[in-house]
Amino acid sequence: MKKAVFEEFDGYKGIVDEIGFSRKHGTDYTVYRDSVAQQINLLHPSRMTLRVSDIIDETPSTKTLRFVSRDGYLPPFLAGQYIALFLEVKGVRTSRPYSISSPPNQTGYYDITVRRAEGGLVSNYLLDEVRRGDLLESSGPSGHFYFNPLFHDTTLVCLAGGSGVTPFMSMIRETVECGLDRALYLFYGNRTLDEAIFHDELSALSERFENIIYVPVIEDPLEGYEGLTGLITGDLIRETIGDSALKTFYLCGPQGMYDFCVPELERLGIPRRKIRKEVYGPPANIWEDPGWPEGVKAEDQFRVSVAGADTIDARAGEPLLTALENGGIRPPSLCRSGECSMCRVKVLSGKVFQPAGVPVRKSDRQFGYVHACVSYPLEDLEILI
Ligand SMILES: Cc1cc2nc3c(=O)[nH]c(=O)nc-3n(C[C@H](O)[C@H](O)[C@H](O)COP(=O)(O)OP(=O)(O)OC[C@H]3O[C@@H](n4cnc5c(N)ncnc54)[C@H](O)[C@@H]3O)c2cc1C
Ligand code: FES
Repeated sequence: MKKAVFEEFDGYKGIVDEIGFSRKHGTDYTVYRDSVAQQINLLHPSRMTLRVSDIIDETPSTKTLRFVSRDGYLPPFLAGQYIALFLEVKGVRTSRPYSISSPPNQTGYYDITVRRAEGGLVSNYLLDEVRRGDLLESSGPSGHFYFNPLFHDTTLVCLAGGSGVTPFMSMIRETVECGLDRALYLFYGNRTLDEAIFHDELSALSERFENIIYVPVIEDPLEGYEGLTGLITGDLIRETIGDSALKTFYLCGPQGMYDFCVPELERLGIPRRKIRKEVYGPPANIWEDPGWPEGVKAEDQFRVSVAGADTIDARAGEPLLTALENGGIRPPSLCRSGECSMCRVKVLSGKVFQPAGVPVRKSDRQFGYVHACVSYPLEDLEILI
C-alpha cells in the first residue's frame, strides 16, 4: 500500500511509538475533555455578550465604546487584537471587526474606537443608535497583529492612518502603564488635525515618556499649521528614526496608505519580513484593482444559488459575503479581510474575482474554496456553505 506523505517525515516513527506507549501506560486524558473544553472556552470564547458601560466622544466623527462583560469575565488579549461585533442593522444580520484600543492590563473592560464611514451600515449604527446599557454580541479577541517578543525587535515603528491608530493605542497604553522595555514611534497620518484620534493623549504621553515618539502628519492642514504636513514618506521616517536596523515596522490604515508606505519602506531597504500589516477590510472600489477583468461593471447583477438554501442576487462590485448577508444568509465571519478563513465557501459552479495576495490555502484553492468576504461574483454562481 502507498505510504501517506506524513509517514515520510523525520521522527514519524518515534511519535507513533510514543503515542502507542502513552495509550498503554499513560494517563487517559479523554476524561479531562470537558474541563479542558471549559478552560479553552473561557480563554477563547467564540461568542461573548458585552454591555456598553460608557460612550466617549473622541473627534467629531469618532467615539469610543467601552464594554464590560455581562457575565463578569473578559478573556485576556494581546495589544493589537480585535473583536468582531455581530449585530442586526436595518434587518441585515452582519458582523464587523474593531481593534481593541484599551490596553490588555485593563482587565475590566474593552474599548473599541469607531470612526464614521460615510454611508457605512454598522459604524453609523454604533455611533448614532447604541446607548449606555445596550447589550452587543461579539467574538473573543482575535488576530495576529501584535508584538511577539520572540521574533520582533523591541523598537516598534508604527505607521497609522485614520482609525488605524486604534491597535497602536492599545500597545502604547500598555507600554507606559506596565513600564515595558520597548520604544514605540507612531507616525500618524490624517487629512486634518481635527480627525487625529487621541491626539491630546498621544502628545501628552510623548512629552512624558521618552520611549514614546508621536509624529502626527497632516495632509490638508489649516493655514498657519506648524506641524509636519503631507504624507508619511520614507525620508520623514529615516530622519526621525535614524538607523532602521533592529526595528520592526507595523502598518495599520486604509489600503491607500499601504500602497504608498510599503514601497517607501522598501526604498529605505527595510526587508518585507520586518514589515507587519494589519488587515483592514475588503478593498474599496474593487473594480479599480489591476486584476479586475475587463468588461465586468461593478453594478452587474448575478444570481447566487446556495446549496440547501435560497438563491440571492449579488453585485459584481460587492463582496459575496455582503450579498449573502443582505439575502438573509449568514455564513460565519470574523476578519472580513480574507485572513481568518471563517467565511470559506465552496464554489460549485461559476467564477469569482479574488484580489491578489489573499491567503487562500493551496488545498482550498485546489478544491474550489474561496473566502466570501473578499470574493466578487463574475457570473451566476452555485455555492456550498
Ligand atoms: C481587523 C480590523 C480592525 C478594524 N478596526 C477598526 C477600528 O478600530 N475602528 C474603526 O472605525 N474601524 C475599524 N475597522 C473597520 C470596520 O470593521 C468597518 O469596516 C468600518 O466601521 C465600516 O463599516 P460600515 O458597516 O460602517 O461600512 P460598510 O457598510 O461596510 O461600508 C464601508 C464603506 O464602503 C462604502 N460602501 C457601502 N456600501 C457600498 C456599496 N454597495 N458599494 C460601494 N461602496 C459602499 C461605504 O460608504 C463605506 O465607506 C477594522 C477593520 C478590520 C478588518
Ligand atoms: S471573514 Fe475572515 S476570511 Fe472572511
